Amino acid sequence: MPAEQDNVQEKGKGTADQARISFDRFMSQKDTIKHKLSGVRHKIGVYSAKGGVGKTTVSVNLAYTLSAMGYKVGILDADIDCPNLSFFIGIDERIDTSKFPLVPLMKDGIKVASTSMVVDDMKKPIIWRGAIITKMLIDFFQNTDWGELDYLIVDLPPGTSDAPLTIMQLLDLDGFILVTTPQRIASVNAFRSGSMAKRLNVYLLGVIENRSSGSESEHTRELVRNLGTRLLGHIRESSAFDRLSDSGVVPVTTDSSVEHEYLAIADEITKDEPKPA
Ligand SMILES: Nc1ncnc2c1ncn2[C@@H]1O[C@H](COP(=O)(O)OP(=O)(O)O)[C@@H](O)[C@H]1O
Ligand SMILES: [Mg+2]
Repeated sequence: MPAEQDNVQEKGKGTADQARISFDRFMSQKDTIKHKLSGVRHKIGVYSAKGGVGKTTVSVNLAYTLSAMGYKVGILDADIDCPNLSFFIGIDERIDTSKFPLVPLMKDGIKVASTSMVVDDMKKPIIWRGAIITKMLIDFFQNTDWGELDYLIVDLPPGTSDAPLTIMQLLDLDGFILVTTPQRIASVNAFRSGSMAKRLNVYLLGVIENRSSGSESEHTRELVRNLGTRLLGHIRESSAFDRLSDSGVVPVTTDSSVEHEYLAIADEITKDEPKPA
Protein backbone atom coordinates (compact mmCIF):
# COMPACT_ATOMS: atom_id res chain seq x y z
CA MET A 1 0.00 0.00 0.00
CA PRO A 2 1.44 3.43 -0.91
CA ALA A 3 2.67 5.32 2.14
CA GLU A 4 0.23 8.18 1.51
CA GLN A 5 -2.83 5.90 1.50
CA ASP A 6 -1.50 4.18 4.59
CA ASN A 7 -1.31 7.55 6.29
CA VAL A 8 -4.88 8.46 5.38
CA GLN A 9 -6.13 5.14 6.71
CA GLU A 10 -4.17 5.59 9.93
CA LYS A 11 -5.61 9.09 10.34
CA GLY A 12 -9.14 7.81 9.71
CA LYS A 13 -8.62 5.08 12.26
CA GLY A 14 -7.39 7.66 14.79
CA THR A 15 -10.52 9.78 14.30
CA ALA A 16 -12.80 6.76 14.56
CA ASP A 17 -11.03 5.66 17.74
CA GLN A 18 -11.38 9.13 19.22
CA ALA A 19 -15.08 9.23 18.34
CA ARG A 20 -15.57 5.82 19.96
CA ILE A 21 -13.69 6.90 23.11
CA SER A 22 -15.79 10.12 23.35
CA PHE A 23 -18.99 8.15 22.79
CA ASP A 24 -18.02 5.53 25.40
CA ARG A 25 -17.16 8.29 27.86
CA PHE A 26 -20.47 10.06 27.24
CA MET A 27 -22.39 6.80 27.77
CA SER A 28 -20.53 6.05 31.00
CA GLN A 29 -21.22 9.61 32.24
CA LYS A 30 -24.87 9.11 31.35
CA ASP A 31 -24.85 5.89 33.39
CA THR A 32 -23.42 7.68 36.42
CA ILE A 33 -26.08 10.38 36.12
CA LYS A 34 -28.80 7.75 35.71
CA HIS A 35 -27.57 6.07 38.88
CA LYS A 36 -27.55 9.40 40.76
CA LEU A 37 -31.14 10.02 39.64
CA SER A 38 -32.38 6.49 40.26
CA GLY A 39 -34.50 7.66 43.21
CA VAL A 40 -36.37 10.13 41.00
CA ARG A 41 -39.58 8.66 39.55
CA HIS A 42 -40.31 11.31 36.91
CA LYS A 43 -37.98 13.85 35.28
CA ILE A 44 -39.91 16.49 33.40
CA GLY A 45 -38.35 19.27 31.36
CA VAL A 46 -39.95 22.68 30.86
CA TYR A 47 -38.88 23.99 27.51
CA SER A 48 -39.26 26.48 24.69
CA ALA A 49 -36.83 27.83 22.12
CA LYS A 50 -37.90 31.36 23.02
CA GLY A 51 -36.78 33.16 26.18
CA GLY A 52 -39.26 35.14 28.28
CA VAL A 53 -42.32 32.96 27.59
CA GLY A 54 -42.47 31.74 31.19
CA LYS A 55 -40.36 28.58 31.50
CA THR A 56 -39.01 29.45 34.93
CA THR A 57 -42.43 30.73 36.04
CA VAL A 58 -44.07 27.47 34.96
CA SER A 59 -41.30 25.32 36.49
CA VAL A 60 -41.63 27.00 39.88
CA ASN A 61 -45.42 27.18 40.04
CA LEU A 62 -45.87 23.65 38.78
CA ALA A 63 -43.33 22.36 41.31
CA TYR A 64 -45.12 24.17 44.17
CA THR A 65 -48.48 22.79 42.97
CA LEU A 66 -47.21 19.20 42.83
CA SER A 67 -45.67 19.66 46.25
CA ALA A 68 -48.97 20.99 47.68
CA MET A 69 -50.67 17.87 46.26
CA GLY A 70 -48.35 15.79 48.45
CA TYR A 71 -45.70 14.73 45.93
CA LYS A 72 -42.00 14.91 46.72
CA VAL A 73 -40.62 17.48 44.32
CA GLY A 74 -37.33 18.98 43.19
CA ILE A 75 -36.49 21.78 40.77
CA LEU A 76 -33.32 21.72 38.73
CA ASP A 77 -32.50 25.04 37.13
CA ALA A 78 -30.45 24.00 34.10
CA ASP A 79 -30.62 27.35 32.32
CA ILE A 80 -26.94 28.15 32.03
CA ASP A 81 -27.01 31.71 30.75
CA CYS A 82 -29.89 33.01 32.87
CA PRO A 83 -30.26 30.73 35.87
CA ASN A 84 -33.08 32.66 37.56
CA LEU A 85 -34.50 30.12 39.95
CA SER A 86 -32.86 31.68 43.03
CA PHE A 87 -34.66 34.97 42.40
CA PHE A 88 -38.00 33.29 41.74
CA ILE A 89 -38.00 31.38 45.00
CA GLY A 90 -36.18 34.03 47.04
CA ILE A 91 -33.11 32.06 48.04
CA ASP A 92 -29.65 33.51 48.39
CA GLU A 93 -27.72 30.50 49.63
CA ARG A 94 -25.07 28.64 47.73
CA ILE A 95 -24.68 24.85 47.51
CA ASP A 96 -21.72 23.63 49.56
CA THR A 97 -19.24 22.57 46.87
CA SER A 98 -16.54 21.53 49.35
CA LYS A 99 -18.27 18.22 50.03
CA PHE A 100 -19.42 15.51 47.63
CA PRO A 101 -22.02 14.57 46.65
CA LEU A 102 -23.56 18.02 46.21
CA VAL A 103 -26.80 18.35 48.14
CA PRO A 104 -29.66 20.48 46.71
CA LEU A 105 -30.95 23.26 48.97
CA MET A 106 -34.40 23.01 50.53
CA LYS A 107 -37.06 25.72 50.09
CA ASP A 108 -40.67 25.30 51.24
CA GLY A 109 -40.26 21.51 51.28
CA ILE A 110 -38.91 21.47 47.70
CA LYS A 111 -35.36 20.47 46.79
CA VAL A 112 -33.72 23.08 44.59
CA ALA A 113 -30.45 23.23 42.68
CA SER A 114 -29.26 25.67 40.09
CA THR A 115 -26.12 26.17 38.05
CA SER A 116 -26.01 29.61 39.73
CA MET A 117 -25.79 28.00 43.18
CA VAL A 118 -22.42 26.43 42.41
CA VAL A 119 -20.66 29.53 41.09
CA ASP A 120 -18.90 32.18 43.17
CA ASP A 121 -21.21 35.08 42.54
CA MET A 122 -24.82 34.50 41.48
CA LYS A 123 -25.13 38.00 40.05
CA LYS A 124 -22.08 37.98 37.78
CA PRO A 125 -22.58 37.03 34.12
CA ILE A 126 -21.79 33.42 33.42
CA ILE A 127 -19.71 33.11 30.28
CA TRP A 128 -19.03 29.51 29.43
CA ARG A 129 -18.22 28.22 26.03
CA GLY A 130 -19.41 25.00 24.38
CA ALA A 131 -17.07 22.34 25.71
CA ILE A 132 -16.85 23.92 29.16
CA ILE A 133 -20.63 24.15 29.43
CA THR A 134 -20.98 20.47 28.70
CA LYS A 135 -18.23 19.54 31.15
CA MET A 136 -19.70 21.76 33.84
CA LEU A 137 -23.19 20.27 33.34
CA ILE A 138 -21.87 16.72 33.40
CA ASP A 139 -19.94 17.44 36.63
CA PHE A 140 -22.98 19.11 38.17
CA PHE A 141 -25.40 16.31 37.25
CA GLN A 142 -22.99 13.50 38.13
CA ASN A 143 -22.34 14.93 41.57
CA THR A 144 -25.75 16.08 42.76
CA ASP A 145 -27.67 13.74 44.98
CA TRP A 146 -31.46 14.22 44.70
CA GLY A 147 -32.44 11.28 46.89
CA GLU A 148 -36.04 10.06 46.56
CA LEU A 149 -38.40 12.25 44.54
CA ASP A 150 -41.70 11.80 42.75
CA TYR A 151 -41.03 14.67 40.33
CA LEU A 152 -37.92 16.53 39.27
CA ILE A 153 -38.88 19.59 37.25
CA VAL A 154 -36.05 20.72 34.98
CA ASP A 155 -36.04 24.36 33.83
CA LEU A 156 -34.28 23.99 30.47
CA PRO A 157 -32.29 26.66 28.63
CA PRO A 158 -33.97 28.27 25.60
CA GLY A 159 -32.74 27.69 22.06
CA THR A 160 -32.42 24.63 19.90
CA SER A 161 -28.63 24.39 20.02
CA ASP A 162 -26.23 22.33 22.05
CA ALA A 163 -27.20 23.15 25.64
CA PRO A 164 -30.85 22.02 25.78
CA LEU A 165 -30.05 18.99 23.62
CA THR A 166 -27.17 17.89 25.82
CA ILE A 167 -29.25 18.30 28.96
CA MET A 168 -32.20 16.33 27.61
CA GLN A 169 -29.87 13.51 26.64
CA LEU A 170 -27.76 13.53 29.80
CA LEU A 171 -30.76 13.53 32.12
CA ASP A 172 -32.74 11.06 30.07
CA LEU A 173 -35.95 13.03 30.65
CA ASP A 174 -39.24 11.13 30.80
CA GLY A 175 -40.90 13.94 28.95
CA PHE A 176 -41.09 17.68 28.52
CA ILE A 177 -43.68 20.42 28.59
CA LEU A 178 -43.61 23.07 25.92
CA VAL A 179 -44.42 26.62 27.03
CA THR A 180 -45.85 29.08 24.55
CA THR A 181 -47.77 32.37 24.59
CA PRO A 182 -50.78 33.30 22.41
CA GLN A 183 -48.62 35.10 19.82
CA ARG A 184 -47.71 33.57 16.48
CA ILE A 185 -43.99 34.15 17.02
CA ALA A 186 -44.10 32.11 20.23
CA SER A 187 -45.89 29.21 18.60
CA VAL A 188 -43.49 29.22 15.61
CA ASN A 189 -40.53 28.99 18.00
CA ALA A 190 -42.31 26.45 20.17
CA PHE A 191 -42.90 24.31 17.09
CA ARG A 192 -39.17 24.35 16.30
CA SER A 193 -38.26 23.34 19.84
CA GLY A 194 -41.01 20.74 20.04
CA SER A 195 -40.03 19.07 16.76
CA MET A 196 -36.35 19.09 17.67
CA ALA A 197 -36.90 17.41 21.04
CA LYS A 198 -39.28 14.88 19.53
CA ARG A 199 -36.59 14.00 17.01
CA LEU A 200 -34.38 13.10 19.97
CA ASN A 201 -37.17 10.81 21.16
CA VAL A 202 -37.96 12.90 24.22
CA TYR A 203 -41.66 12.51 24.88
CA LEU A 204 -43.76 15.65 24.55
CA LEU A 205 -46.24 15.69 27.43
CA GLY A 206 -48.14 18.66 26.04
CA VAL A 207 -48.31 22.41 25.65
CA ILE A 208 -49.07 25.14 28.19
CA GLU A 209 -50.30 28.47 26.89
CA ASN A 210 -48.91 31.07 29.29
CA ARG A 211 -49.95 34.73 29.45
CA SER A 212 -53.23 33.53 28.01
CA SER A 213 -56.48 35.45 27.60
CA GLY A 214 -58.30 32.44 29.04
CA SER A 215 -58.86 30.34 25.96
CA GLU A 216 -56.08 29.31 23.63
CA SER A 217 -55.24 31.39 20.55
CA GLU A 218 -55.56 30.01 17.02
CA HIS A 219 -51.73 29.84 16.92
CA THR A 220 -51.58 27.67 20.02
CA ARG A 221 -54.33 25.41 18.62
CA GLU A 222 -52.36 25.03 15.41
CA LEU A 223 -49.16 24.33 17.35
CA VAL A 224 -50.83 21.58 19.34
CA ARG A 225 -52.32 20.07 16.19
CA ASN A 226 -49.05 20.21 14.22
CA LEU A 227 -47.09 18.57 17.01
CA GLY A 228 -49.74 15.90 17.48
CA THR A 229 -49.92 16.60 21.19
CA ARG A 230 -52.44 18.02 23.68
CA LEU A 231 -52.99 21.28 25.51
CA LEU A 232 -52.25 20.77 29.19
CA GLY A 233 -53.89 24.06 30.09
CA HIS A 234 -53.59 27.83 30.04
CA ILE A 235 -52.32 30.31 32.57
CA ARG A 236 -53.81 33.76 32.28
CA GLU A 237 -51.82 36.96 32.06
CA SER A 238 -51.97 38.17 35.66
CA SER A 239 -50.41 40.79 37.89
CA ALA A 240 -50.04 38.01 40.47
CA PHE A 241 -46.78 37.17 38.66
CA ASP A 242 -45.32 40.66 39.03
CA ARG A 243 -43.70 40.01 42.39
CA LEU A 244 -42.49 36.51 41.56
CA SER A 245 -39.10 37.25 40.07
CA ASP A 246 -38.41 40.20 42.38
CA SER A 247 -39.41 38.93 45.78
CA GLY A 248 -39.87 35.19 45.40
CA VAL A 249 -43.61 35.24 46.16
CA VAL A 250 -44.89 32.18 44.28
CA PRO A 251 -48.40 32.99 42.88
CA VAL A 252 -49.87 29.50 43.35
CA THR A 253 -49.37 30.01 47.09
CA THR A 254 -51.08 33.43 47.21
CA ASP A 255 -53.61 33.71 44.37
CA SER A 256 -56.51 31.26 44.15
CA SER A 257 -57.24 31.70 40.44
CA VAL A 258 -53.60 31.02 39.51
CA GLU A 259 -53.67 28.09 41.95
CA HIS A 260 -56.71 26.61 40.14
CA GLU A 261 -55.11 26.96 36.73
CA TYR A 262 -51.99 25.14 37.88
CA LEU A 263 -54.00 22.48 39.70
CA ALA A 264 -55.81 21.65 36.44
CA ILE A 265 -52.43 21.24 34.69
CA ALA A 266 -50.95 19.19 37.53
CA ASP A 267 -54.05 16.94 37.48
CA GLU A 268 -53.45 16.31 33.77
CA ILE A 269 -49.79 15.50 34.37
CA THR A 270 -50.43 13.17 37.32
CA LYS A 271 -53.66 11.56 36.09
CA ASP A 272 -52.09 8.10 35.68
CA GLU A 273 -50.19 8.37 38.94
CA PRO A 274 -51.14 6.93 42.30
CA LYS A 275 -52.26 9.82 44.54
CA PRO A 276 -49.79 10.54 47.35
CA ALA A 277 -50.76 9.29 50.81
N1 LIG B 1 -48.99 34.42 33.24
C1 LIG B 1 -48.18 35.48 33.41
N2 LIG B 1 -48.73 36.72 33.62
C2 LIG B 1 -47.94 37.79 33.81
N3 LIG B 1 -46.60 37.77 33.82
C3 LIG B 1 -45.99 36.58 33.61
C4 LIG B 1 -46.74 35.38 33.41
N4 LIG B 1 -45.86 34.36 33.24
C5 LIG B 1 -44.62 34.89 33.34
N5 LIG B 1 -44.69 36.21 33.55
C6 LIG B 1 -43.54 37.14 33.69
O1 LIG B 1 -42.78 37.08 32.49
C7 LIG B 1 -41.40 37.25 32.75
C8 LIG B 1 -40.62 36.15 32.05
O2 LIG B 1 -40.94 34.88 32.62
P1 LIG B 1 -39.83 33.76 32.82
O3 LIG B 1 -40.47 32.66 33.56
O4 LIG B 1 -38.57 34.35 33.40
O5 LIG B 1 -39.55 33.34 31.31
P2 LIG B 1 -38.41 32.35 30.73
O6 LIG B 1 -37.95 31.48 31.84
O7 LIG B 1 -39.11 31.58 29.64
O8 LIG B 1 -37.34 33.22 30.17
C9 LIG B 1 -41.26 37.24 34.28
O9 LIG B 1 -41.07 38.55 34.72
C10 LIG B 1 -42.58 36.68 34.78
O10 LIG B 1 -42.93 37.22 36.05
MG1 LIG C 1 -36.01 31.22 32.67
